[in-house]
Amino acid sequence: PSNTGKIENAKTRELAQNIETGQNETLNTNQGVKVNDDQNSLKAGNRGATLMEDFILREKITHFDHERIPERVVHARGAGAHGTFQLYKSLAKYTKANFLTDVSAETPVFVRFSTVAGSRGSSDLARDVRGFAVKFYTQEGNFDLVGNNMPVFFIQDAIKFPDLIHAVKPEPHNEIPQAASAHDTFWDFISLMPESAHMIMWVMSDRALPRSLRMMEGFGVHTFRLINKKGDSHFVKFHWKPLLGVHSVAWDEAQNISGKDPDFHRRDLWEAIENGAFPEWELGVQIIPEADEHKYPFDLLDPTKLVPEEMVPVQRIGKLTLNRNPDNFFAETEQVAFHIGNVVPGIDFTNDPLLQGRLFSYTDTQLIRLGGPNFHEIPINRPVVPVHNNQRDGFMRQQINSGRTSYHPNTLGGGCPFQAGMMKGGFTSYAEKIDASKVRERSESFRDHFSQATLFYNSQSQPEKNHIVNALSFELGKVQTVAIRQRMLGILSLIHKDLAGKVAFKLGLAVSKPERPINKSIPADAPVEQYESKIVK
Ligand code: HEM
Repeated sequence: PSNTGKIENAKTRELAQNIETGQNETLNTNQGVKVNDDQNSLKAGNRGATLMEDFILREKITHFDHERIPERVVHARGAGAHGTFQLYKSLAKYTKANFLTDVSAETPVFVRFSTVAGSRGSSDLARDVRGFAVKFYTQEGNFDLVGNNMPVFFIQDAIKFPDLIHAVKPEPHNEIPQAASAHDTFWDFISLMPESAHMIMWVMSDRALPRSLRMMEGFGVHTFRLINKKGDSHFVKFHWKPLLGVHSVAWDEAQNISGKDPDFHRRDLWEAIENGAFPEWELGVQIIPEADEHKYPFDLLDPTKLVPEEMVPVQRIGKLTLNRNPDNFFAETEQVAFHIGNVVPGIDFTNDPLLQGRLFSYTDTQLIRLGGPNFHEIPINRPVVPVHNNQRDGFMRQQINSGRTSYHPNTLGGGCPFQAGMMKGGFTSYAEKIDASKVRERSESFRDHFSQATLFYNSQSQPEKNHIVNALSFELGKVQTVAIRQRMLGILSLIHKDLAGKVAFKLGLAVSKPERPINKSIPADAPVEQYESKIVK
C-alpha cells in the first residue's frame, strides 16, 4: 500500500484494504481483463471510423464522463487530514462516552477544514467563516463535531439557512461574486437580520482571514449535552485551541495571496504534515450544570451567543494531532460525510433551533451528494466498529448480508442482530421533560442581538478595530444599493457608535437611524414595515 512509512491508526489500517497503488501492475479493464493499449482506439483501418465494440475506449471514456459528483451545497472547498485524539483527563463525572473517559484510548480522527461560501475551486483566503469538522472514529461508533472557527452563527433558526446561503452565494443571474460576501444580496439580508450582528463582527474581523488552518480555533457553536452513567445531564460547549496560537493575515495580504496561491491554506496544511510539523489542538469544554440553565444574561440555546470564558472557564481535556495526509483527495476529503447527528452514548442534543434543523439537513444533502442511502459504507465514513442492522439494499450496497431474516422481532434467527438495549452500551436519548404548546415562535430570551456584538468589538485591540472598520467599509463599498449601506449603518450604530461613525465616514454617508429592532416588543424577524412604525426614536 501507498501508506508505507506513514503514521497509522486503527482507521488508516482499516482503510488500507481499499488502497490501490497500481505500481508495477498490469493495466486492466474494470472486469480485470489485461489491456495492451489504452492510447489507440479500435478503428476500421488506421484512418477509419472508431468501432463501437471497443470496450476499452468505451469504459475509459464512460468512467471519465461520470467522475464528478455535486460539490457540497456549502463548505464546498476543503482540505482534510487524518490524526488522533488523546484524552488528558477523564470526563467520567459528566459523560459516559468512552473516548472522553478512557485516557488510555487513542481515537482516530479525520478532520476537514473548509470555507463556506466559495465553490470547490475558490481561493483559500476569501474573507469567510472556516469549517472545522472532526470525525472521531470511537469504539462506540462515529462522533462528528461539525464546527466552525467562530463560536457563533448568523441566524437563530435553521429555517432561515437557505435564505442566508442564497444571499451569500454568488448572485443567481450572473454568478458574481465568487467566494466573497461583498455584494448586495448578502448585505441586504444581513441588514434585515439583526440577529446576525454578533456573527458579522467576527466575520469582519481578522478571524475571517486565518494565517493558517493550523492557527485557527474551532467551536462546536451550539450548546450540547453530556450525559453520565447515572443519566445526569450537563450542558457543554466544545472548543478547539490551536497550540500554535491564533494568527491571521491582513486584508491586503489575503488579496495578494489569493492571486498568487489560491491553495495557500491547503498547501500549508499538507506541507506541515509531510514535514512532520504536526498541527495540534487541545479540546476544550465549558461545562454548565443543568441547574444553571437560566443563570446567564443570554439563552444557552441561542447560537448567536457565546458563553464568555470569564463566566465559565474552558477546561482543556485532550489533544488532537493531525499526522497524516490523505492518500486521495476525492476518496477521503471529498467523500467524507460529517453530520452533527452522529453522536455516541454520553453526548446528546439540546433544543437550539439551529442545531435541530441541522440534524435533518446533513443526511438529507449527503443522500444526493453521495448517491443514495449507503454512503456510510464509503471507506472514509465507515466506523472502526462493525455495523450490523436490518437495513438492506439501495444503490451501491457493499455489505453482503447473509442469512434469512432482516426484520425484528423474529424467531428464525439467521442474520438478525440483537437490539443493544438488551445488552450494554446502547444509545438512550436524554429524557428531557417537555410540556409546551406547539408554536411557530421564538423565545423572548433570544431577543438581545447586540450586547455580545458590542462586547466583541470592545474586546478588540485598536489595530483590530481598524481592520473591522476597513473590512466593513470595503464590503459595504461594493454594495451598489445605497439603501442597503444605509440600513447597515443603522445596525452598526446599535453595536457601537464609533464603529458606525467611522464606516459612515469612509462610505461618505451619515449614520442613519436604525430601522430595526430596538423595540424589544417587536419580534426580530417582523417585517420591516412593522419596525418602521414602531421605532424607538
Ligand atoms: C456543511 C458547519 C449550520 C447545512 C458544513 C460543514 C461544516 C458545517 C463544518 C462542512 C462539513 C465538511 O467538511 O464536509 C456548520 C456550523 C453551523 C452550520 C458550525 C452552525 C452552527 C448549518 C445549518 C444547516 C447546514 C443551519 C442547514 C439547516 C449544511 C450542509 C452542509 C454543511 C447541507 C454540506 C454537507 C455535505 O454536503 O456533506 N456545515 N453548519 N449547516 N452544512 Fe453546516
